Amino acid sequence: MWDYTDKVLELFYDPKNQGTIEDNHEPGVKVSVGDVGSISCGDALRLHLKVEEATDKILDARFQTFGCTSAIASSSALTEMVKGLTLDEALKVTNKEIADYLGGLPEAKMHCSVMGQEALEAAIYNYRGIPLEAHDDDDEGVLICSCFGITDAKIKKAVRHNNLFSAEQVTNYVKAGGGCGSCLAKIDDIIKEVKQEYEKEIASTNSVPANTKDSTLGQQKPLTNVQRIALIQKVLDEEVRPVLIADGGDVELYDIEGDKIKVILKGACGSCSSSTATLKVAIESRLRDRISKDIIVEAV
Ligand code: FES
Repeated sequence: MWDYTDKVLELFYDPKNQGTIEDNHEPGVKVSVGDVGSISCGDALRLHLKVEEATDKILDARFQTFGCTSAIASSSALTEMVKGLTLDEALKVTNKEIADYLGGLPEAKMHCSVMGQEALEAAIYNYRGIPLEAHDDDDEGVLICSCFGITDAKIKKAVRHNNLFSAEQVTNYVKAGGGCGSCLAKIDDIIKEVKQEYEKEIASTNSVPANTKDSTLGQQKPLTNVQRIALIQKVLDEEVRPVLIADGGDVELYDIEGDKIKVILKGACGSCSSSTATLKVAIESRLRDRISKDIIVEAV
């Protein structure tokens, strides 16, 4: 018997926002759907969002799921959490926050919270007209777990976001490794790789000149302008451009004025009608996540 919290049981026995949102073509309102999982793998979730176009605000959220107690509770929690948020705010909701809303989930059931976060992302990208292949980790990278169709990209994301340190935890979060087990050694390698990347990032952050350190407290002062520009360029080069290039586009850093970052969109991005959405989601969200929540990205 799983050790579920009272909140999980409450939302399982009396789920909030279960069902669909019909698109009645109301003026100024758009309905979007995000699908994740598959019934053949045991869990599937479809999230419906009703969004006010002028403000990007989520007016309503509903779900349909084929899954266990935790899948129903996680989906229900997610819909409660995102109602009233803007799409940018909703994109910052993590699977950990979904689990926290529930007072925690058994670790073996954490994949339900991951599924909720992925359905949210899928619905928002769908709303913004960004092609699935531009953001879906399942379509990128190398297939690691053939039992559950999980790629290295998806495993890396789970390891990074949840600070996982064992293959068993990875199985709990994304199911990889939970079938025949032949991919477990590869999962261990990926965990090591992510840890090494993380250590490198820490080392490069700490490699600022000694005179930028607060000698009293031993803490770093805010980044200098040069360091900040270098970090923005690094995030664009390593985390944003590969995704855009894969979709036939590209981006170049043009100028920085305080928190306003001006970029030039190229290729498919420059002529694409969803380029504003691309900016907001693929570039601004990533830079906010990695550098500062106040960053605003503009195309020139
Ligand atoms: S290949 Fe991953 S569990 Fe079988």
